Formats: sequence, structure tokens, C-alpha cells
Amino acid sequence: MEQLYIALDFQSADQVERFLEKLAPHRPALKVGMELYYAEGPAFVRHLVRQGHDVFLDLKVHDIPETARRTMRVIGQLGVELTNVHAAGGKAMMEAVLTGLRETSPNTRLIAVTQLTSTDQDMLTDLMIPHAMDEVVAHYAREADQAGLDGVVCSALDTTHIKATCRSGFQLVTPGIRPNGTDANDQKRIATVTDARRNGATDLVIGRAITQAKDPKVVYEALLSEWKGIKQ
Ligand code: C5P
Repeated sequence: MEQLYIALDFQSADQVERFLEKLAPHRPALKVGMELYYAEGPAFVRHLVRQGHDVFLDLKVHDIPETARRTMRVIGQLGVELTNVHAAGGKAMMEAVLTGLRETSPNTRLIAVTQLTSTDQDMLTDLMIPHAMDEVVAHYAREADQAGLDGVVCSALDTTHIKATCRSGFQLVTPGIRPNGTDANDQKRIATVTDARRNGATDLVIGRAITQAKDPKVVYEALLSEWKGIKQ
């Protein structure tokens, strides 16, 4: 889909509306995460969809398979274009979730989180996962692929490994994007838009680099043309 989703990491609909006014007349693809969803709920997601935004609902579902399936059945009714689960929930959960989603939505893409882009090797050790990050990410991606999901969320630094191990067409949605020379914040594995494109990312998620910019529209337009303009 080659989307550039702006991560709406805001706490209220008012803040979102004020931010979107700064981007007019663009109607960007948007990522609604837990903070905004728990503040404003499904009605606001429906509102964004009605306004013509493609929405990635990033709720990272992770529960027992039946609960996860029933949850995804409900998410499928919101009209979002993309949503996700944690691959750590296991293959049976991912299969159940895909079944639930297809009960209510034929088109919503479903992807899995492999490892959060704030996770590094030390954190894997803390979690008692005794493998190299790239092996862990590739394994989780393979499980998602075998469960029939459309792709994974992953760092742009993990895409090459995943492409080597998953079916062609498997989608790689990459957060942790930073324009050259900007603050990494809490992200540990970051890349530029150009790096992500060259590494085979299929979609991008960009938050603070746009939402906290002095002129979000200028930054959005620059990043979008960098994303759309560079051929792999
Ligand atoms: O501000 P920044 O560009 O770092 O925002 C990245 C967004 O992508 C955040 O909303 C974060 O929750 C999300 N995300 C991530 N890593 C993942 C999955 C989602 O950073 N693996």
C-alpha cells in the first residue's frame, strides 16, 4: 500500500483536530494508538475514517485466542485499513484473530508486531530470550506469515532478514523513522525514510518527527516526497 501513517500520539480529539488543521488540505493516513483510542474510543476512529483518512488502528492485541478473535471481530467493524496483534501471542492466536477479522471485514490488513522498536538486545536478555535480535524478529515474522497475516511491524533495520524468510509480498510496516540529524527519543533502532525504502519497507509510521515539528505540513510533505520519490 506504500502508506505513510502519521502516528497520532495525542490524548484528545481536540488535539488531533488542531494538528490535522495544520496539515490541510492533505488527508494523511493516520495511526491511532492506545493513548488516543482509550481516550476517545471507537466513535472517533469511525469519525476519522468518515473524514477520508486511511486508519491504522494500532492496539497490539495480545490475549488468549478466543478473546483475541472476538476482539478483532469488533475492530473489523470500524472500517480501518490496517490493524495489528503481538506475534508473541503465538500462531494459534494470530490464526484466531485473522478468522475474527474476516468475519466482519474482508479488506482490513492484519499485521503482527515482532519486537517493539524500543527493544534492544539487552532487553531481550532481561526477558530471558537467549537469541540474537535478528533471529527473534525473523522467527516471529515467519510465524505471522504461516498464520496467514499480511505482514509485520518491524524496524527498518530488520527488513532484509524478514524478506529472506517470508513469502514475497509480505508487508513490512516500519516505525522508528527519523529524518537525518533529529532526536531518536526512546527509539533504539532508527532509520531514515530513504534507508527504510532501500531496505524494502512497504509502509512507514512516523510520529514525533511530524507531530512535534514547528511546521508539520512542511515536514510531512518533505518526508512523503522522500518516501514516494525514491525507487527501490
Ligand atoms: O514518534 P515515533 O515516530 O517514534 O512514533 C512511532 C510510533 O510507532 C509510536 O506510536 C509507537 O507506538 C509505534 N510503534 C513502534 N514500534 C513498534 C510498533 C509501533 O514504535 N514495533
